Amino acid sequence: MKFPETRLKRLHVDFPFMVAPMVGLSHVAFRELIRAYTPEDITPLIFSEMLSSRRLPSERLERAENLFVAENERGLIPQLLGNEERFIAPSVEKLMELNPWGIDINMGCPKKKNLSHNWGVLLLGDKEYAAEVVRVTKKHSPRPVSVKLRAGLGDKIDLEYLDSFTEALEEAGADWMTIHCRSSEQKHHGKANWEVLTELSQRRTIPVVANGDVQTAQDAISLIRHFGVDGAMVARAATARPWILWQIAKELGHAQSARARALENPPMTPEEEGREYFQAVLRFAFLVKKYFGSGEGSLQRLKFYIGVSSPWLPFGHHFWKLIHASREFDQAVDRIEEYAVQNPQPLRERVSH
Ligand SMILES: Cc1cc2nc3c(=O)[nH]c(=O)nc-3n(C[C@H](O)[C@H](O)[C@H](O)COP(=O)(O)O)c2cc1C
Repeated sequence: MKFPETRLKRLHVDFPFMVAPMVGLSHVAFRELIRAYTPEDITPLIFSEMLSSRRLPSERLERAENLFVAENERGLIPQLLGNEERFIAPSVEKLMELNPWGIDINMGCPKKKNLSHNWGVLLLGDKEYAAEVVRVTKKHSPRPVSVKLRAGLGDKIDLEYLDSFTEALEEAGADWMTIHCRSSEQKHHGKANWEVLTELSQRRTIPVVANGDVQTAQDAISLIRHFGVDGAMVARAATARPWILWQIAKELGHAQSARARALENPPMTPEEEGREYFQAVLRFAFLVKKYFGSGEGSLQRLKFYIGVSSPWLPFGHHFWKLIHASREFDQAVDRIEEYAVQNPQPLRERVSH
């Protein structure tokens, strides 16, 4: 296989490209959409949205929508928000019922609501505490444990701090980590600083995966080839081009096609991508309906998906407004179909957040 061999190979990961955790998006329907656009002989690692360790232990798998998984779903990495063993232990036990590939610990969420429990990005301010969370999760998890963190706390990215913090995670037993190359103050805006990872990944012995502003197949490949990291994680761009893993595989010389529709090759030109975007949104709607029905929750999921992905369309704002004004799921689907026929448009290569 011609995929770049990185340190993730030690964890038996051949294809070092993955899809990020995103609240409201990384549910079973979205993950299935991504897999449908990925060659069948590749099992991509795809994260769930963050899950609260305080809620998980009492959750019923067949009822909790954020814990739904597809039949025989593989490559799933549920992401845990947690900081105390009494919650982490039963949460990990519950998550094992989903047959996950691994477990990820969130150390990057800057939302105020999550900070009241002293977890998410707050863990980034206290390396002993963060290391203890890793130790506890490792103790209870039979699967690989990773951490997703930000490159900096406040408005700074400080390589020396990041070095000592990630060294503590490594010593505590983390199997690998993802770094979102923005500071906590940047939230999801502005440029990601990939440069900081070249030095950092040399100082670590465990795999380091880059995240933040990975928008094209070339971005993802270049992170490994030119920035020296072990993997690349796509987030928002995977909503606009859910075939990005397929494009990466193709770019690296992998010839297999994906299950999605009757396409032999991934859409490559802006026009092909623009056409396929609407097909992907319709497929997403179909999958949302399959797993969650066609009620209010599904309408919200559809609107949210279009809210995040439509900036890649030149007239995305019009599309978004039209769908946002829909009152029913089926009405929104009809509008998508009509809009796609009447307003063909290319997909932008990148957007600035
Ligand atoms: C809507 C949304 C929800 C997110 N939810 C999570 C989450 O649950 N856990 C997490 O670690 N990061 C979360 N993130 C951050 C992403 O995983 C990723 O780090 C961030 O979007 C930067 O990547 P990008 O610039 O390629 O989008 C979220 C981001 C967005 C836009």
